[in-house]
Amino acid sequence: MFHATIEPCVRKRSKPASVTVNRHEVKFQEVRLYLVERKMGASRRGFLTQLARSKGFIVDDILSDDITHVVSEDSRASSLWEWLKGCGLKSLSKMQVLHISWFTDSMRAGRPAAVEDRHLIQDTLPASPESSILAPVAAISQYACQRRTSTDNKNKIFTDAFEVLAENYEFSEMKSSSVSFRRAASVLKSLSWAVKCMGATQGLPCLGEHTKTVMEEIIQSGHSFQVEKILSSERYQTLKLFTSVFGVGPKTAERWYRMGLRSFSDVLAEPDIQLNRMQQSGFLHYGDISRAVTKAEAQALGNIIDEAVHMITSDCIVALTGGFRRGKEIGHDVDYIVTTAEVGKEECVLLHVINCFKKQGIVLYCDYQPSTFHISKLPCQKYDAMDYFAKCFLILRLEASQVDGGLNCTEGDNRGWRAVRLDLVSPPMDRYAFALLGWTGSTQFDRDMRRFARMEKRMILDNHTLYDKTKREFLAASTEEDIFAHLGLEYIEPWQRNA
Ligand code: CTP
Ligand code: MN
Ligand code: MN
Repeated sequence: MFHATIEPCVRKRSKPASVTVNRHEVKFQEVRLYLVERKMGASRRGFLTQLARSKGFIVDDILSDDITHVVSEDSRASSLWEWLKGCGLKSLSKMQVLHISWFTDSMRAGRPAAVEDRHLIQDTLPASPESSILAPVAAISQYACQRRTSTDNKNKIFTDAFEVLAENYEFSEMKSSSVSFRRAASVLKSLSWAVKCMGATQGLPCLGEHTKTVMEEIIQSGHSFQVEKILSSERYQTLKLFTSVFGVGPKTAERWYRMGLRSFSDVLAEPDIQLNRMQQSGFLHYGDISRAVTKAEAQALGNIIDEAVHMITSDCIVALTGGFRRGKEIGHDVDYIVTTAEVGKEECVLLHVINCFKKQGIVLYCDYQPSTFHISKLPCQKYDAMDYFAKCFLILRLEASQVDGGLNCTEGDNRGWRAVRLDLVSPPMDRYAFALLGWTGSTQFDRDMRRFARMEKRMILDNHTLYDKTKREFLAASTEEDIFAHLGLEYIEPWQRNA
Protein backbone atom coordinates (compact mmCIF):
# COMPACT_ATOMS: atom_id res chain seq x y z
CA MET A 1 0.00 0.00 0.00
CA PHE A 2 2.80 2.34 0.99
CA HIS A 3 5.32 0.85 -1.44
CA ALA A 4 3.10 1.51 -4.41
CA THR A 5 3.57 5.25 -4.07
CA ILE A 6 7.34 5.09 -3.92
CA GLU A 7 9.46 5.06 -7.03
CA PRO A 8 13.10 3.98 -6.81
CA CYS A 9 14.79 6.65 -4.79
CA VAL A 10 18.22 8.17 -4.88
CA ARG A 11 21.43 6.28 -5.31
CA LYS A 12 24.68 7.47 -3.86
CA ARG A 13 27.31 8.84 -6.20
CA SER A 14 29.66 5.84 -5.79
CA LYS A 15 29.08 4.16 -9.17
CA PRO A 16 29.39 6.75 -11.90
CA ALA A 17 28.56 4.40 -14.77
CA SER A 18 25.08 3.75 -16.03
CA VAL A 19 23.47 0.91 -14.12
CA THR A 20 22.25 -0.93 -17.16
CA VAL A 21 24.89 -2.24 -19.55
CA ASN A 22 24.62 -0.16 -22.65
CA ARG A 23 24.95 -2.22 -25.80
CA HIS A 24 24.92 0.89 -27.98
CA GLU A 25 27.69 3.34 -28.65
CA VAL A 26 27.49 6.40 -26.42
CA LYS A 27 27.57 9.58 -28.46
CA PHE A 28 26.65 12.17 -25.85
CA GLN A 29 28.76 11.65 -22.72
CA GLU A 30 27.73 14.94 -21.13
CA VAL A 31 24.02 14.12 -21.18
CA ARG A 32 22.50 11.55 -18.85
CA LEU A 33 18.74 11.04 -18.99
CA TYR A 34 16.24 9.75 -16.50
CA LEU A 35 12.71 9.00 -17.68
CA VAL A 36 10.02 9.34 -14.98
CA GLU A 37 7.80 6.26 -15.03
CA ARG A 38 4.79 7.97 -13.47
CA LYS A 39 2.18 8.67 -16.13
CA MET A 40 4.50 7.26 -18.85
CA GLY A 41 4.06 3.68 -17.68
CA ALA A 42 6.69 0.96 -17.50
CA SER A 43 6.36 -0.43 -21.03
CA ARG A 44 6.48 2.94 -22.79
CA ARG A 45 9.39 3.91 -20.58
CA GLY A 46 11.23 0.72 -21.61
CA PHE A 47 10.54 1.46 -25.26
CA LEU A 48 11.69 5.09 -25.06
CA THR A 49 14.80 4.04 -23.14
CA GLN A 50 15.80 1.61 -25.89
CA LEU A 51 15.07 4.20 -28.55
CA ALA A 52 17.27 6.81 -26.90
CA ARG A 53 20.09 4.35 -26.26
CA SER A 54 20.01 3.25 -29.87
CA LYS A 55 20.58 6.88 -30.81
CA GLY A 56 23.63 7.16 -28.56
CA PHE A 57 22.05 8.68 -25.43
CA ILE A 58 22.83 7.50 -21.91
CA VAL A 59 19.60 6.64 -20.08
CA ASP A 60 19.81 5.58 -16.41
CA ASP A 61 17.15 3.42 -14.81
CA ILE A 62 17.74 4.98 -11.42
CA LEU A 63 17.51 8.62 -10.46
CA SER A 64 20.81 9.78 -9.01
CA ASP A 65 22.80 12.98 -8.70
CA ASP A 66 24.57 12.07 -11.98
CA ILE A 67 21.44 12.72 -14.01
CA THR A 68 21.49 15.88 -16.12
CA HIS A 69 18.04 15.70 -17.76
CA VAL A 70 14.85 14.44 -16.10
CA VAL A 71 12.10 13.77 -18.64
CA SER A 72 8.47 13.45 -17.65
CA GLU A 73 5.26 12.82 -19.48
CA ASP A 74 3.34 14.18 -16.50
CA SER A 75 3.05 17.91 -17.04
CA ARG A 76 1.46 18.61 -13.64
CA ALA A 77 4.49 20.43 -12.32
CA SER A 78 3.59 20.41 -8.64
CA SER A 79 3.24 16.66 -8.21
CA LEU A 80 6.40 16.00 -10.23
CA TRP A 81 8.45 18.51 -8.25
CA GLU A 82 7.03 17.30 -5.00
CA TRP A 83 8.21 13.81 -5.86
CA LEU A 84 11.63 15.00 -7.04
CA LYS A 85 12.15 16.99 -3.87
CA GLY A 86 11.25 13.98 -1.77
CA CYS A 87 14.07 11.98 -3.38
CA GLY A 88 16.85 13.60 -1.38
CA LEU A 89 18.92 14.66 -4.41
CA LYS A 90 21.84 16.97 -3.88
CA SER A 91 22.08 18.31 -7.41
CA LEU A 92 18.41 18.68 -8.28
CA SER A 93 18.93 22.40 -8.78
CA LYS A 94 21.44 21.65 -11.57
CA MET A 95 19.17 19.24 -13.43
CA GLN A 96 16.96 20.11 -16.37
CA VAL A 97 13.43 18.98 -15.63
CA LEU A 98 11.79 18.63 -19.01
CA HIS A 99 8.59 17.76 -20.71
CA ILE A 100 8.52 14.76 -23.07
CA SER A 101 8.47 17.23 -26.00
CA TRP A 102 12.19 17.87 -25.43
CA PHE A 103 12.78 14.12 -25.67
CA THR A 104 10.85 13.76 -28.94
CA ASP A 105 12.62 16.81 -30.39
CA SER A 106 15.94 15.21 -29.46
CA MET A 107 15.04 11.84 -30.96
CA ARG A 108 13.92 13.51 -34.16
CA ALA A 109 17.18 15.50 -34.36
CA GLY A 110 19.31 12.50 -33.38
CA ARG A 111 21.10 14.63 -30.76
CA PRO A 112 20.19 16.50 -27.53
CA ALA A 113 17.90 19.37 -28.56
CA ALA A 114 18.60 22.84 -27.19
CA VAL A 115 16.42 23.39 -24.15
CA GLU A 116 13.73 25.99 -24.82
CA ASP A 117 11.26 27.53 -22.39
CA ARG A 118 8.41 25.44 -23.76
CA HIS A 119 10.30 22.27 -22.73
CA LEU A 120 10.72 23.26 -19.10
CA ILE A 121 8.53 21.96 -16.31
CA GLN A 122 8.82 24.86 -13.91
CA ASP A 123 9.11 24.35 -10.18
CA THR A 124 6.01 25.97 -8.73
CA LEU A 125 6.61 24.79 -5.15
CA PRO A 126 8.09 26.94 -2.42
CA ALA A 127 11.81 26.35 -1.94
CA SER A 128 12.84 23.31 0.07
CA PRO A 129 16.26 22.25 1.37
CA GLU A 130 16.89 19.90 -1.57
CA SER A 131 16.83 22.71 -4.07
CA SER A 132 19.01 24.94 -1.99
CA ILE A 133 22.48 23.63 -2.78
CA LEU A 134 23.36 26.27 -5.35
CA ALA A 135 21.03 29.10 -4.52
CA PRO A 136 20.84 29.12 -0.73
CA VAL A 137 17.35 29.63 0.63
CA ALA A 138 16.42 30.23 4.25
CA ALA A 139 16.66 27.04 6.27
CA ILE A 140 13.47 25.68 7.83
CA SER A 141 13.01 27.25 11.24
CA GLN A 142 12.69 25.24 14.45
CA TYR A 143 9.78 27.57 15.35
CA ALA A 144 6.35 26.84 13.84
CA CYS A 145 5.63 30.60 13.80
CA GLN A 146 8.35 30.95 11.12
CA ARG A 147 6.89 28.23 8.93
CA ARG A 148 3.76 28.12 6.78
CA THR A 149 1.64 25.05 7.43
CA SER A 150 -1.55 24.47 5.45
CA THR A 151 -4.14 21.79 6.23
CA ASP A 152 -2.70 19.71 3.36
CA ASN A 153 -0.32 17.43 5.23
CA LYS A 154 1.95 15.59 2.79
CA ASN A 155 3.60 13.49 5.50
CA LYS A 156 0.58 12.11 7.33
CA ILE A 157 2.04 8.60 7.40
CA PHE A 158 4.84 9.89 9.65
CA THR A 159 2.97 12.56 11.61
CA ASP A 160 0.18 10.14 12.60
CA ALA A 161 2.83 7.80 14.01
CA PHE A 162 4.57 10.66 15.86
CA GLU A 163 1.27 11.79 17.34
CA VAL A 164 0.56 8.33 18.74
CA LEU A 165 4.00 8.34 20.37
CA ALA A 166 3.54 11.88 21.70
CA GLU A 167 0.16 11.00 23.14
CA ASN A 168 1.53 7.84 24.73
CA TYR A 169 4.29 9.87 26.41
CA GLU A 170 1.66 12.33 27.65
CA PHE A 171 -0.25 9.44 29.19
CA SER A 172 2.98 8.53 31.00
CA GLU A 173 3.63 12.19 31.93
CA MET A 174 6.88 12.25 29.99
CA LYS A 175 6.53 15.83 28.88
CA SER A 176 9.84 16.38 27.11
CA SER A 177 9.58 13.23 24.98
CA SER A 178 6.07 14.12 23.95
CA VAL A 179 7.15 17.67 23.07
CA SER A 180 9.95 16.25 20.86
CA PHE A 181 7.52 14.17 18.84
CA ARG A 182 5.00 17.01 18.58
CA ARG A 183 7.72 19.33 17.25
CA ALA A 184 8.94 16.73 14.77
CA ALA A 185 5.38 16.16 13.52
CA SER A 186 4.93 19.89 13.19
CA VAL A 187 8.07 20.28 11.04
CA LEU A 188 6.98 17.50 8.67
CA LYS A 189 3.49 19.03 8.38
CA SER A 190 5.03 22.25 7.06
CA LEU A 191 6.76 20.56 4.11
CA SER A 192 5.19 21.03 0.68
CA TRP A 193 6.63 17.68 -0.36
CA ALA A 194 6.44 14.14 0.96
CA VAL A 195 9.55 12.60 2.51
CA LYS A 196 10.36 9.43 0.57
CA CYS A 197 13.77 8.55 1.94
CA MET A 198 15.96 9.51 4.88
CA GLY A 199 18.32 11.56 2.70
CA ALA A 200 15.48 14.04 2.28
CA THR A 201 15.39 14.80 6.01
CA GLN A 202 18.86 16.32 5.98
CA GLY A 203 18.84 19.82 7.36
CA LEU A 204 15.34 19.55 8.85
CA PRO A 205 15.18 20.83 12.44
CA CYS A 206 13.66 18.99 15.42
CA LEU A 207 14.25 15.47 14.10
CA GLY A 208 16.15 13.51 16.74
CA GLU A 209 17.52 9.97 16.75
CA HIS A 210 14.29 8.42 17.95
CA THR A 211 12.09 10.24 15.42
CA LYS A 212 14.46 9.22 12.62
CA THR A 213 14.37 5.56 13.66
CA VAL A 214 10.58 5.64 13.46
CA MET A 215 10.70 7.30 10.04
CA GLU A 216 13.16 4.71 8.75
CA GLU A 217 10.88 1.89 9.91
CA ILE A 218 7.97 3.49 8.08
CA ILE A 219 9.93 4.12 4.88
CA GLN A 220 11.15 0.54 4.83
CA SER A 221 8.06 -1.36 5.85
CA GLY A 222 5.13 1.05 5.64
CA HIS A 223 4.59 1.04 9.40
CA SER A 224 6.43 1.41 12.68
CA PHE A 225 6.74 -1.60 14.93
CA GLN A 226 6.89 0.59 18.06
CA VAL A 227 3.75 2.46 17.08
CA GLU A 228 1.85 -0.74 16.24
CA LYS A 229 2.78 -2.08 19.66
CA ILE A 230 1.39 1.01 21.41
CA LEU A 231 -1.77 1.00 19.29
CA SER A 232 -2.49 -2.59 20.22
CA SER A 233 -1.74 -2.17 23.92
CA GLU A 234 -4.65 -2.33 26.33
CA ARG A 235 -3.41 0.65 28.30
CA TYR A 236 -3.20 2.98 25.31
CA GLN A 237 -6.55 1.87 23.92
CA THR A 238 -8.28 2.32 27.27
CA LEU A 239 -6.75 5.73 28.03
CA LYS A 240 -7.59 6.87 24.50
CA LEU A 241 -11.19 5.73 24.96
CA PHE A 242 -11.62 7.38 28.37
CA THR A 243 -10.04 10.71 27.33
CA SER A 244 -12.39 10.85 24.35
CA VAL A 245 -15.16 11.70 26.84
CA PHE A 246 -15.80 15.43 27.36
CA GLY A 247 -14.52 16.27 30.87
CA VAL A 248 -12.15 13.32 31.20
CA GLY A 249 -8.46 14.24 31.15
CA PRO A 250 -5.40 11.96 31.26
CA LYS A 251 -5.29 11.94 35.10
CA THR A 252 -8.88 10.72 35.51
CA ALA A 253 -8.44 8.22 32.69
CA GLU A 254 -5.33 6.83 34.40
CA ARG A 255 -7.15 6.52 37.72
CA TRP A 256 -10.00 4.60 36.13
CA TYR A 257 -7.52 2.38 34.30
CA ARG A 258 -5.72 1.60 37.57
CA MET A 259 -9.07 0.66 39.12
CA GLY A 260 -9.22 -2.07 36.49
CA LEU A 261 -11.91 -0.36 34.39
CA ARG A 262 -11.66 -0.94 30.64
CA SER A 263 -14.94 0.16 29.07
CA PHE A 264 -17.64 2.82 29.44
CA SER A 265 -19.99 0.25 30.97
CA ASP A 266 -17.28 -0.61 33.53
CA VAL A 267 -17.07 3.08 34.47
CA LEU A 268 -20.82 3.64 34.60
CA ALA A 269 -21.37 0.51 36.71
CA GLU A 270 -18.64 1.38 39.24
CA PRO A 271 -20.26 2.60 42.49
CA ASP A 272 -17.05 4.33 43.68
CA ILE A 273 -17.06 6.74 40.74
CA GLN A 274 -18.87 10.05 41.06
CA LEU A 275 -19.03 11.65 37.63
CA ASN A 276 -19.01 15.45 37.68
CA ARG A 277 -21.58 17.44 35.68
CA MET A 278 -19.23 17.83 32.72
CA GLN A 279 -18.51 14.08 32.53
CA GLN A 280 -22.21 13.24 32.89
CA SER A 281 -22.94 15.42 29.85
CA GLY A 282 -19.93 13.89 28.13
CA PHE A 283 -21.38 10.40 28.45
CA LEU A 284 -24.96 11.49 27.75
CA HIS A 285 -24.05 13.13 24.43
CA TYR A 286 -21.05 10.94 23.62
CA GLY A 287 -22.27 9.74 20.21
CA ASP A 288 -22.94 13.28 19.00
CA ILE A 289 -19.96 15.17 20.39
CA SER A 290 -17.40 12.53 19.47
CA ARG A 291 -18.55 12.89 15.84
CA ALA A 292 -16.85 15.61 13.78
CA VAL A 293 -18.44 19.03 13.43
CA THR A 294 -18.63 20.29 9.83
CA LYS A 295 -17.95 23.76 8.46
CA ALA A 296 -21.66 24.16 7.67
CA GLU A 297 -22.53 23.32 11.28
CA ALA A 298 -19.93 25.82 12.53
CA GLN A 299 -21.50 28.44 10.24
CA ALA A 300 -24.98 27.60 11.55
CA LEU A 301 -23.81 28.19 15.13
CA GLY A 302 -22.36 31.52 13.97
CA ASN A 303 -25.81 32.52 12.67
CA ILE A 304 -27.42 31.60 15.98
CA ILE A 305 -24.86 33.67 17.91
CA ASP A 306 -25.28 36.61 15.48
CA GLU A 307 -29.01 36.62 16.01
CA ALA A 308 -28.68 36.58 19.79
CA VAL A 309 -26.05 39.31 19.84
CA HIS A 310 -27.84 41.71 17.54
CA MET A 311 -30.89 41.74 19.75
CA ILE A 312 -29.01 43.94 22.23
CA THR A 313 -26.55 46.11 20.37
CA SER A 314 -25.20 46.65 16.91
CA ASP A 315 -21.52 47.16 17.71
CA CYS A 316 -20.88 43.56 18.64
CA ILE A 317 -18.14 41.39 17.22
CA VAL A 318 -18.71 37.72 16.50
CA ALA A 319 -15.59 36.09 15.08
CA LEU A 320 -14.90 32.50 14.18
CA THR A 321 -11.63 31.19 15.65
CA GLY A 322 -10.09 27.74 16.33
CA GLY A 323 -9.53 25.14 13.65
CA PHE A 324 -12.28 26.45 11.36
CA ARG A 325 -10.55 29.83 11.08
CA ARG A 326 -7.44 27.91 10.03
CA GLY A 327 -9.43 26.49 7.12
CA LYS A 328 -10.10 23.04 8.54
CA GLU A 329 -13.07 21.21 7.03
CA ILE A 330 -14.03 19.53 10.32
CA GLY A 331 -13.41 20.06 14.02
CA HIS A 332 -14.06 18.53 17.43
CA ASP A 333 -15.89 21.70 18.48
CA VAL A 334 -16.62 25.25 17.28
CA ASP A 335 -14.84 28.29 18.73
CA TYR A 336 -16.17 31.86 18.56
CA ILE A 337 -15.08 35.16 20.06
CA VAL A 338 -18.05 37.26 21.14
CA THR A 339 -17.32 40.78 22.29
CA THR A 340 -18.22 44.42 21.91
CA ALA A 341 -16.42 47.59 20.86
CA GLU A 342 -16.93 49.15 24.27
CA VAL A 343 -14.35 47.88 26.78
CA GLY A 344 -16.00 46.57 29.96
CA LYS A 345 -19.31 45.56 28.31
CA GLU A 346 -18.06 42.26 26.88
CA GLU A 347 -19.10 40.11 29.81
CA CYS A 348 -22.67 41.44 29.56
CA VAL A 349 -22.77 40.47 25.91
CA LEU A 350 -21.65 36.92 26.65
CA LEU A 351 -24.20 36.53 29.45
CA HIS A 352 -26.90 37.88 27.16
CA VAL A 353 -26.01 35.36 24.44
CA ILE A 354 -26.15 32.46 26.91
CA ASN A 355 -29.52 33.70 28.15
CA CYS A 356 -30.87 33.80 24.62
CA PHE A 357 -29.73 30.22 24.07
CA LYS A 358 -31.45 29.17 27.29
CA LYS A 359 -34.71 30.86 26.27
CA GLN A 360 -34.59 28.98 22.99
CA GLY A 361 -34.20 25.73 24.94
CA ILE A 362 -31.05 24.70 23.09
CA VAL A 363 -28.59 24.51 26.00
CA LEU A 364 -27.66 20.92 26.87
CA TYR A 365 -24.63 21.89 28.96
CA CYS A 366 -23.21 25.23 30.03
CA ASP A 367 -20.07 25.98 32.03
CA TYR A 368 -19.80 29.76 32.36
CA GLN A 369 -16.52 31.11 33.72
CA PRO A 370 -16.57 34.80 34.63
CA SER A 371 -13.59 37.00 33.82
CA THR A 372 -10.69 36.95 36.26
CA PHE A 373 -8.82 39.45 34.10
CA HIS A 374 -6.96 42.20 35.89
CA ILE A 375 -4.10 44.26 34.56
CA SER A 376 -2.06 43.58 37.72
CA LYS A 377 -1.87 39.88 36.77
CA LEU A 378 0.05 40.73 33.60
CA PRO A 379 2.41 39.67 32.24
CA CYS A 380 1.35 36.12 32.97
CA GLN A 381 4.45 34.07 33.89
CA LYS A 382 2.92 30.63 33.58
CA TYR A 383 2.73 29.77 29.93
CA ASP A 384 0.23 27.13 28.81
CA ALA A 385 -2.08 28.51 31.53
CA MET A 386 -5.71 29.27 30.66
CA ASP A 387 -6.52 32.87 29.93
CA TYR A 388 -8.45 35.19 32.27
CA PHE A 389 -11.24 36.21 29.89
CA ALA A 390 -14.92 35.50 30.49
CA LYS A 391 -15.72 32.32 28.62
CA CYS A 392 -18.27 29.58 28.28
CA PHE A 393 -17.98 25.92 27.36
CA LEU A 394 -21.29 24.70 25.95
CA ILE A 395 -23.08 21.77 24.43
CA LEU A 396 -25.90 23.02 22.20
CA ARG A 397 -28.76 21.38 20.41
CA LEU A 398 -28.46 22.16 16.70
CA GLU A 399 -31.47 21.61 14.45
CA ALA A 400 -31.00 20.08 10.98
CA SER A 401 -33.13 22.87 9.49
CA GLN A 402 -30.55 25.45 10.61
CA VAL A 403 -27.67 23.82 8.75
CA ASP A 404 -26.95 24.38 5.10
CA GLY A 405 -26.88 20.88 3.57
CA GLY A 406 -28.08 19.24 6.80
CA LEU A 407 -26.40 17.74 9.85
CA ASN A 408 -23.44 15.41 10.04
CA CYS A 409 -25.24 12.47 11.59
CA THR A 410 -25.06 8.70 11.46
CA GLU A 411 -27.18 6.74 9.01
CA GLY A 412 -30.67 6.03 10.22
CA ASP A 413 -30.58 8.90 12.73
CA ASN A 414 -33.88 10.72 12.21
CA ARG A 415 -33.99 12.89 15.34
CA GLY A 416 -33.55 16.01 13.20
CA TRP A 417 -30.98 17.50 15.60
CA ARG A 418 -27.57 16.80 17.08
CA ALA A 419 -25.52 17.97 20.05
CA VAL A 420 -22.41 20.08 19.30
CA ARG A 421 -19.64 21.51 21.46
CA LEU A 422 -19.28 25.29 21.35
CA ASP A 423 -16.62 27.44 23.06
CA LEU A 424 -17.23 31.17 23.50
CA VAL A 425 -14.70 33.69 24.78
CA SER A 426 -15.17 37.42 25.46
CA PRO A 427 -11.94 39.43 25.63
CA PRO A 428 -12.15 43.18 26.17
CA MET A 429 -11.66 44.91 22.81
CA ASP A 430 -8.17 46.22 23.66
CA ARG A 431 -7.09 42.56 24.09
CA TYR A 432 -8.91 41.32 21.01
CA ALA A 433 -5.87 40.72 18.76
CA PHE A 434 -4.09 38.65 21.42
CA ALA A 435 -7.19 36.58 22.15
CA LEU A 436 -7.84 36.02 18.44
CA LEU A 437 -4.25 34.88 17.89
CA GLY A 438 -4.34 32.55 20.91
CA TRP A 439 -7.73 31.02 20.16
CA THR A 440 -7.00 30.55 16.47
CA GLY A 441 -4.15 28.20 17.34
CA SER A 442 -3.00 25.72 16.43
CA THR A 443 -1.84 24.80 19.90
CA GLN A 444 1.60 23.95 18.49
CA PHE A 445 1.75 27.23 16.56
CA ASP A 446 0.89 29.19 19.73
CA ARG A 447 3.42 27.30 21.84
CA ASP A 448 6.17 28.02 19.36
CA MET A 449 5.23 31.68 19.00
CA ARG A 450 5.48 32.04 22.79
CA ARG A 451 8.74 30.12 22.87
CA PHE A 452 10.08 32.30 20.04
CA ALA A 453 9.11 35.46 21.94
CA ARG A 454 10.77 34.20 25.12
CA MET A 455 13.94 32.70 23.65
CA GLU A 456 14.65 35.03 20.76
CA LYS A 457 13.17 38.37 21.81
CA ARG A 458 13.09 38.43 25.63
CA MET A 459 9.35 39.01 25.41
CA ILE A 460 6.38 37.34 27.05
CA LEU A 461 3.40 36.57 24.81
CA ASP A 462 0.10 35.15 25.97
CA ASN A 463 -3.63 35.44 25.12
CA HIS A 464 -3.79 38.88 26.81
CA THR A 465 -0.68 40.79 25.95
CA LEU A 466 2.91 41.08 24.75
CA TYR A 467 5.50 42.27 27.24
CA ASP A 468 9.02 43.39 26.38
CA LYS A 469 11.32 42.42 29.28
CA THR A 470 14.21 44.52 27.98
CA LYS A 471 12.21 47.74 27.65
CA ARG A 472 9.93 46.76 30.55
CA GLU A 473 6.83 47.75 28.67
CA PHE A 474 3.66 46.27 27.20
CA LEU A 475 3.39 46.40 23.42
CA ALA A 476 -0.09 47.31 22.24
CA ALA A 477 -1.67 45.59 19.25
CA SER A 478 -5.01 46.07 17.54
CA THR A 479 -4.46 43.42 14.88
CA GLU A 480 -2.66 40.09 14.65
CA GLU A 481 -0.32 41.73 12.11
CA ASP A 482 0.80 44.15 14.86
CA ILE A 483 1.80 41.23 17.10
CA PHE A 484 3.84 39.53 14.38
CA ALA A 485 5.48 42.89 13.62
CA HIS A 486 6.42 43.53 17.28
CA LEU A 487 8.13 40.13 17.28
CA GLY A 488 9.92 40.83 14.00
CA LEU A 489 8.09 37.92 12.36
CA GLU A 490 6.68 37.72 8.85
CA TYR A 491 2.89 37.61 9.04
CA ILE A 492 1.49 34.09 8.81
CA GLU A 493 -2.14 33.83 7.64
CA PRO A 494 -4.54 31.79 9.82
CA TRP A 495 -4.75 29.00 7.22
CA GLN A 496 -0.95 28.73 7.34
CA ARG A 497 -0.93 28.09 11.10
CA ASN A 498 -1.89 24.40 11.02
CA ALA A 499 1.37 23.45 12.69
N1 CTP B 1 -7.58 27.79 23.74
C1 CTP B 1 -7.15 28.70 24.67
N2 CTP B 1 -7.71 28.73 25.90
C2 CTP B 1 -8.71 27.87 26.22
C3 CTP B 1 -9.16 26.94 25.28
C4 CTP B 1 -8.55 26.92 24.03
O1 CTP B 1 -6.28 29.50 24.37
N3 CTP B 1 -9.24 27.94 27.42
C5 CTP B 1 -6.96 27.79 22.42
C6 CTP B 1 -6.17 26.54 22.14
O2 CTP B 1 -4.83 26.66 22.59
C7 CTP B 1 -6.26 26.44 20.65
C8 CTP B 1 -7.56 27.16 20.29
O3 CTP B 1 -7.96 27.82 21.47
O4 CTP B 1 -5.18 27.13 20.04
C9 CTP B 1 -8.61 26.22 19.82
O5 CTP B 1 -8.74 25.13 20.71
P1 CTP B 1 -9.47 23.78 20.33
O6 CTP B 1 -10.89 24.04 20.01
O7 CTP B 1 -9.18 22.81 21.41
O8 CTP B 1 -8.65 23.26 19.06
P2 CTP B 1 -8.83 23.51 17.50
O9 CTP B 1 -7.52 23.95 17.02
O10 CTP B 1 -10.00 24.39 17.23
O11 CTP B 1 -9.08 22.05 16.97
P3 CTP B 1 -10.50 21.36 16.67
O12 CTP B 1 -10.76 21.68 15.24
O13 CTP B 1 -10.29 19.91 16.91
O14 CTP B 1 -11.49 21.96 17.59
MN1 MN C 1 -11.87 24.01 18.09
MN1 MN D 1 -12.33 24.72 21.55
